[in-house]
Amino acid sequence: MRVLGIETSCDDTAAAIYDSDAGLLVHRTATQIDVHQPYGGVVPELAARDHMKGLLPLIDHLIHTPQNDGIRPDAIAYTAGPGLAGALLVGGSVGKSLAQSWQVPAIGIHHMEGHLLAPMLEKTPPQFPLLALLVSGGHTMLVDVEAAGVYHILGQSLDDAAGEAFDKTAQLLGLGYPGGPALAHTALSGTPGRFVFPRPMTNRAGLDFSFSGLKTQVRSTASQCVLTSQTVADLALAFEVAVVETLAIKCARAIQKSGRSRLIISGGVSANTRLRNRMRKLATEHMIEVFYPRHEFCTDNGAMIAYAGWFRLSSGMLSDEGERSQFEVYPRWSLEDI
Ligand code: KG4
Ligand code: ZN
Repeated sequence: MRVLGIETSCDDTAAAIYDSDAGLLVHRTATQIDVHQPYGGVVPELAARDHMKGLLPLIDHLIHTPQNDGIRPDAIAYTAGPGLAGALLVGGSVGKSLAQSWQVPAIGIHHMEGHLLAPMLEKTPPQFPLLALLVSGGHTMLVDVEAAGVYHILGQSLDDAAGEAFDKTAQLLGLGYPGGPALAHTALSGTPGRFVFPRPMTNRAGLDFSFSGLKTQVRSTASQCVLTSQTVADLALAFEVAVVETLAIKCARAIQKSGRSRLIISGGVSANTRLRNRMRKLATEHMIEVFYPRHEFCTDNGAMIAYAGWFRLSSGMLSDEGERSQFEVYPRWSLEDI
């Protein structure tokens, strides 16, 4: 089975073709960095407009690559939520319309299930059951994955997601958009230990996260300093360390609580080198295995949506959404309600 995956939930126009025998055939992501950079963050209307301009040519290109050789897919998977409503509607309407004209099924995919399944595209994919730490711009969550498609959320962000905190902190430090990679880069020249920020919500039981106070802490510390480039780097490092340590503490708790021996870390922030190194150390300490997507599949991409489409279609797990003739998108949608 050959599945075309479409991802337009935020600021990346992405598509891919996954073949159940040959694996991932082609994928391409067109970022909208140039569109949003002047505004310091994602402007939803501009995101939707750019998806409208770029999506069909991108799909046309993938279909006609030598790897796919013009072959029509057997199914189309598109991100149905959560995300920006206008942006989701573009991917949803293109996906459904193509499916109708090609007479193939269309299936709406939960964006976070896409992230969760992204490590399955690697050479040695993890087996279920497992734990998943999903760290993206919109969500931070710890999920117990009992079996394929059976998700229990153990904890999640009560306010800013980890990626959102990276973006907002980068902005207040004048590091621009996209903030996560810029802040991580700046932190490389930071002085360890000059500033130390708290690890939010780690001194009480539970697996929820709260990162907005950390951002406020950076702002108030910055307001008391002369913001030289070295001070900015020192603040960036202290912030990054606080986020990474908080995630590590919560993961250690989740490992102990669940008894799982495999941990997936996925979503945009999983591209962060400090986090990847810290989680490798944690895995050794707890004698578990840790799995990541390759770098380009940490952030939003079409490959994870194509794979999730195949995963659901091949196991008969059609979402309700996918079976309806009209379509809706779900800007807010819990992973437990698929
Ligand atoms: O998963 P993703 O592409 O989109 C959402 O589903 O939200 O995640 C994007 C987030 C952004 O907040 C971005 O700043 C963050 O991932 N990010 C990073 C890094 N690369 C991307 N955060 C920290 N370090 C990075 N290297
Ligand atoms: Zn994402």
